[in-house]
Amino acid sequence: MSQPEALEALNATPRTTVITLLEKLRRGEPITMLTAYDFPTARAVDEAGVDAILVGDSLAMVVLGYDDTLRVTMDEMLHHCRAVSRGARRALLIGDMPFMSYQAEAAEALRNAGRFLKEGGMHAVKLEGGRAVADTIRKIVAAGIPVLGHVGLTPQSRHAMGGYLVQGRTAASARGLLDDALALEGAGCFAVVVESVPAQVAAHLTQRLSVPTIGIGAGAQVGGQVLVLHDMLGLYDRLSPRFVKRYAALGAEMTEAARAYRREVEAGIFPGPEHAYTMTEQEWRTFAGENGGCRARPVSFGRSG
Ligand code: KIV
Repeated sequence: MSQPEALEALNATPRTTVITLLEKLRRGEPITMLTAYDFPTARAVDEAGVDAILVGDSLAMVVLGYDDTLRVTMDEMLHHCRAVSRGARRALLIGDMPFMSYQAEAAEALRNAGRFLKEGGMHAVKLEGGRAVADTIRKIVAAGIPVLGHVGLTPQSRHAMGGYLVQGRTAASARGLLDDALALEGAGCFAVVVESVPAQVAAHLTQRLSVPTIGIGAGAQVGGQVLVLHDMLGLYDRLSPRFVKRYAALGAEMTEAARAYRREVEAGIFPGPEHAYTMTEQEWRTFAGENGGCRARPVSFGRSG
């Protein structure tokens, strides 16, 4: 299939929904999810045929340069969600609820979840936490908003966890994770992200749940995978968890492109004649005659444009 044909086929593909993901789980097909944060990244991920795009609060770190995810606000998240919704035509779009937008009160959580759909153009939301947020999730789901759960390493609780630590490494902790994941399923989550958990524990959760698990640092025996786009593209190197696979080195490529541009401008190589606009010689002569000429003549006298 040629590239235009592949694009046409993709555009004709109906929008992925939470039902599509459940059907993939039933067929035993892995679900694919990546983060995206703006129009070009959403377009790229969508055109790659990835099932779901998460506008993760990881944008606080990888796009906005904060040290962690705690400071990003609802308004910042919605701003990025809108850009993503303009760039993606096919993928299921999930907005990540930022720290303190859902923890204090269920009514506030519900209003904020609604904003992701009404103002952000998202189709679903994600919340971190297990049993502690199950009642809140139940209310959001009852309002018709699909919810993706998130257990294991939950970065919004980094201070409570003592850092970005692998979770579920002891039997007691693994038992807690299972209870959390089952509570999320019971509350109506359509899927559950499982982050930084031993592969055996993630595989067990996957077996026990009837909804898909989406792993990140959780091994291969899960319903699907998610990665932070800027990690896998080599655009963010402040943290490099073991579970990240780098598929490109775009950060280095961007620096190299900017360096080449600087060199060419400094050496007078860019812009070349092909980058310049022109005017007719007659118009130039008239203008130059009126204005006492000009030492620097236009590069060429072609069709003006
Ligand atoms: O914010 C995010 O990008 C996430 C993923 C790592 C699952 O929560």
